[in-house]
Amino acid sequence: MTTPENIVIVGGCGHVGLPLGIVLASRGAAEVTLLDIDASKVAAVSHGHIPFMEAGAEALLQKVIGERLRATVDPTCLARADVVITVVGTPVDEHLNPTVTELYRNIDTLLEQMGNDVLFVLRSTVFPGVTKLVYDRIRTRARQIHLAFCPERIAEGKALEELVTLPQIVAAFEPEAQKRARELFLRITPSIIELTPLEAELAKLFTNSWRYLNFAVSNQFYMLAQASGLDFYRIHDAVIREYPRMRSFARAGFAAGPCLLKDTLQLAAFSGNQFFMGHAAMLINEGLPNFILSQLKSKNLSEKTVAILGMAFKADSDDSRDSLSYKLKKLLQVEAREVLCADPYVKDPSLIPAEQAVRRSDIIVLGAPHSAYRDLEIPLEKIVVDVWGFWNVREQKTLEAVQAGKVG
Ligand SMILES: NC(=O)c1ccc[n+]([C@@H]2O[C@H](COP(=O)([O-])OP(=O)(O)OC[C@H]3O[C@@H](n4cnc5c(N)ncnc54)[C@H](O)[C@@H]3O)[C@@H](O)[C@H]2O)c1
Repeated sequence: MTTPENIVIVGGCGHVGLPLGIVLASRGAAEVTLLDIDASKVAAVSHGHIPFMEAGAEALLQKVIGERLRATVDPTCLARADVVITVVGTPVDEHLNPTVTELYRNIDTLLEQMGNDVLFVLRSTVFPGVTKLVYDRIRTRARQIHLAFCPERIAEGKALEELVTLPQIVAAFEPEAQKRARELFLRITPSIIELTPLEAELAKLFTNSWRYLNFAVSNQFYMLAQASGLDFYRIHDAVIREYPRMRSFARAGFAAGPCLLKDTLQLAAFSGNQFFMGHAAMLINEGLPNFILSQLKSKNLSEKTVAILGMAFKADSDDSRDSLSYKLKKLLQVEAREVLCADPYVKDPSLIPAEQAVRRSDIIVLGAPHSAYRDLEIPLEKIVVDVWGFWNVREQKTLEAVQAGKVG
């Protein structure tokens, strides 16, 4: 079969599965079922709601849900599938090691439930070698299932735009699986890159580790500059301005979230813990909240109220998974008189509105540079820590006011 009719996405109501399902369904020629174990997400999606922030997704979901797209917790849909795509999470454990046993358990269950001649696509980010081990499991069971590894490379919040523009990496051990996976993704993207499965697994991990390392370089330089009493962004601006070779010099900021650190650690485990740059990047990025705390210690913290604005792991997102704002909150709670937290998008009953947090605090730390904070009124007497350089203009005004003797 060259045109898959019935596509099931396992983990289909998550950050990767749902945008993919919407895009596949909106391209037509397929019935797409989102299979998920989270009944509340399935209910939300079935009513046309996206359970998280994703630009443009809700409008498109409402066009296809109940038509070519449906969501369910019922795994019997697997028996009718021509294509099964799994995007369940692949976290690291409490020892910071990849956890593959849960993934294998999940895959074994899927293999039992799907029929023969199915194209089975692994789309989660996996530890290198996992595709081969899954392939061997299929052969051991003498199943006629065509396995491919096709990693997801979107950035959360930009999924709909990136799914249809980024090239798709496609990898399989057999030509039939390679061909069917290529045809599947050519429905949504104009460009396919073909690799072997191990190459593709490393390509995905290199991508995320590369980004994590880049942020670590900037965060290290930020800490070097600030510890010397200098403004990192004056130097950053001088370095990149009209100097194309340094265009990729990232801004500093909390480099966190569900993927970058986890995937750097997967690569570290794969290298037998010889990926020294990865470990160094982890120490730097995860150490940024500690650096902020150490800088604030001179401000008589035990008598100060600190506000953290932005608890999501990145700007204009409601995703607080592995956010460093929460790590900073924990550290500050030991030292400061009070810690107040705000975020316009994150669902957390302990959060308060940003304006209230600003009013009640002495020190303000920008945790995530949400656009909603761009024009937030912050009185000049407040101490502001803005690792991202988001309010640079305002900081410049503060500096000028201090120089002009207007502020102490
Ligand atoms: N979030 C991203 O931006 C991103 C980007 C590229 C790749 N990835 C990778 O994609 C994978 C999924 O990440 P995510 O952010 O979408 O995670 P997620 O937690 O948002 O989504 C996973 C979904 O799987 C569901 N699920 C868990 N176990 C299940 C099971 N046994 N059967 C059916 N559904 C099940 C969960 O309820 C959840 O809805 C991970 O490997 C991640 O590294 C994520």
